[in-house]
Amino acid sequence: MIRITRQDGVQILRLDRPDKKNALTGAMYTDLAEALERGNTDPDIRCSLICGQPEVFTAGNDIGDFLQYAGKSGMTETPVVRFLRALVRNEKPLVASIDGIAIGVGTTLLMHCDMVFASPRALIRSPFVDLGLVPEAGSSLLGPQLMGHARAFELLCLGNAFSAEKALRAGLVNEVVEGDVDAAALACAREIAAKPTEAMALSRKLLRGDTEALFERVEEEIRIFASRLSAPETIAAFQAFMSKKKA
Ligand code: COA
Repeated sequence: MIRITRQDGVQILRLDRPDKKNALTGAMYTDLAEALERGNTDPDIRCSLICGQPEVFTAGNDIGDFLQYAGKSGMTETPVVRFLRALVRNEKPLVASIDGIAIGVGTTLLMHCDMVFASPRALIRSPFVDLGLVPEAGSSLLGPQLMGHARAFELLCLGNAFSAEKALRAGLVNEVVEGDVDAAALACAREIAAKPTEAMALSRKLLRGDTEALFERVEEEIRIFASRLSAPETIAAFQAFMSKKKA
């Protein structure tokens, strides 16, 4: 589930499924999408903060859910897709706090954040290719822009794990926090929320630039990703994970 609270103009979205390493289900994506959409229309929300649990931000998409989409068309209108579109359309500053593993969409959503705080034990990994998949959430466009092709390839195609320090050097993380990373991220989110709202919105929009190309890339990724869910090598990778779990 997603626990949603508010503090001083900050909407706090806490991923809360620790027994499954915060793997994201359809219901969780819906809650996240609704929260971001709400942020666009509710003037009392001046910033959103997304955070997880100690040692785990998220293990990415629930792999059991992925298996259910395999062989079916229509993955293009699902809660995860709604969430990806909400990320691109999000108009309020977004801050993330990661205190452990951030896998798959847990990595790619960071590229939509304005500020990212990580603890030294944060580990950022995107095993898309190993699962027979392709990068999503616009990361195939944002990744190279953010960190250059070589590092984006290493993260998104090779699937290498980036430590907090490496992610800092790559420009994916703003600050590695030795102490309470959630507290540091919340302090930043509150600072953002306390600034002049209109000037903040206009400035952020200028920095983000035209999001049309990003939106198109997200849609293209969704189409390819959806078709990959039925590829034999992908289904085999999912089944291997699920059978390991049963064993
Ligand atoms: N989808 C569904 N369930 C998941 C999951 C996921 N993405 N990640 C973890 N879980 C579940 C496990 O199946 C296990 O459930 P169980 O207790 O009912 O068996 C539970 O969460 C704990 O995971 P476990 O693998 O035992 O923990 P670990 O500390 O040994 O490893 C991870 C943690 C995150 C490294 C490992 O679970 C993993 O690699 N998960 C898959 C990550 C992934 O590929 N995500 C998709 C990205 S596109």
